[in-house]
Amino acid sequence: ARDSALAAIAAATDLEQLKTVRTEHAGDRSPLALANREIGALPPQARKEAGQRVGQARGAVNQALAARQEVLEAEHEARILVEEAVDVTLPTDHDPVGGRHPLTTGAELIADIFVAMGWEVAEGPVIEAEWLNFDALNLGPDHPARTMQDTFWTEPADHHIVLRTHTSPVQARTMLTRTPPIYVVCPGRVFRTDEYDATHSPMFHQVEGLAIDEGISMAHLKGTLDHFAAQMFGDGITTRFRPSYFPFTEPSAEVDLTCFVCRGTGLKDGTTEHCRTCRGEGWIEWGGCGMVNPRVLQACGVDATRYSGFAFGMGIDRTLMFRHGLEDLRTLFEGDVRFTTAFGSEL
Ligand code: PHE
Repeated sequence: ARDSALAAIAAATDLEQLKTVRTEHAGDRSPLALANREIGALPPQARKEAGQRVGQARGAVNQALAARQEVLEAEHEARILVEEAVDVTLPTDHDPVGGRHPLTTGAELIADIFVAMGWEVAEGPVIEAEWLNFDALNLGPDHPARTMQDTFWTEPADHHIVLRTHTSPVQARTMLTRTPPIYVVCPGRVFRTDEYDATHSPMFHQVEGLAIDEGISMAHLKGTLDHFAAQMFGDGITTRFRPSYFPFTEPSAEVDLTCFVCRGTGLKDGTTEHCRTCRGEGWIEWGGCGMVNPRVLQACGVDATRYSGFAFGMGIDRTLMFRHGLEDLRTLFEGDVRFTTAFGSEL
């Protein structure tokens, strides 16, 4: 029994097998355990000798089991180290990491165009005081133009806090905290209670520009926007002003951009048909602008007898749609990584 137990122990090649061997050869029903129990039944003079033999055999078997256990455990651990090793140099099949969003790179591109002219970038909060979003900009509580921009109000209403409906409150903040000359662009997110469709969204992006200095005129405004248009869309793309109304500028104008598709001809390429993008106009709407209303200068602590200024504001999303020929505004907001990576992080 002892020899067959020792042979079985030596033959066990893993811990599982050794467990079976232990039950068979050292367990309660093993031949050696039975032999041990039978010692009592032997004649007294034979007991001592039998007891020694069985005891030695059991000792040897237990020792062999313990030794084998140790060897097999060590082997097991060594094997795990090898089998479960991770080769960090192998190529992976992970999902691509994605790309910077065209709205981020687009806002940076716009900022760069102005920074190159010596302007600065200013930012303001998205959750804004009603006073800065409206009153400081010459839109009093009952001003009819308030409904031009359907506003998201926060609760409680008597705190007078809104989600800003345009980036113009950043103009007001800038004038309130700095002294002229001021040349800033303010890109940012704005909110209006608009439907969500191919050309509208309750959340979109604007870029505001503000220049306050001595002797600033409408000619400076026109020159600045023409330069912006050419930088953004290429040589030959320029702007046109149409008279308009904004409470915070006087005079005010809508800014049109040379249609980037027909490049101002109003015709579909090589045909006598109307260009579809501008409906034959040769121009498309880009944003609003004007000379800062002296009432706004006063409300924001700027000396209107000494300084004048211009301001403009346009949709960044719309600008990017033009630049990239996007048909649906929503593609900019839906977070599809295939869309984002297609821009390759550069504009
Ligand atoms: N704030 C205006 C809008 O959201 C745009 C604008 C900005 C017009 C600055 C004039 C001057 O429609």
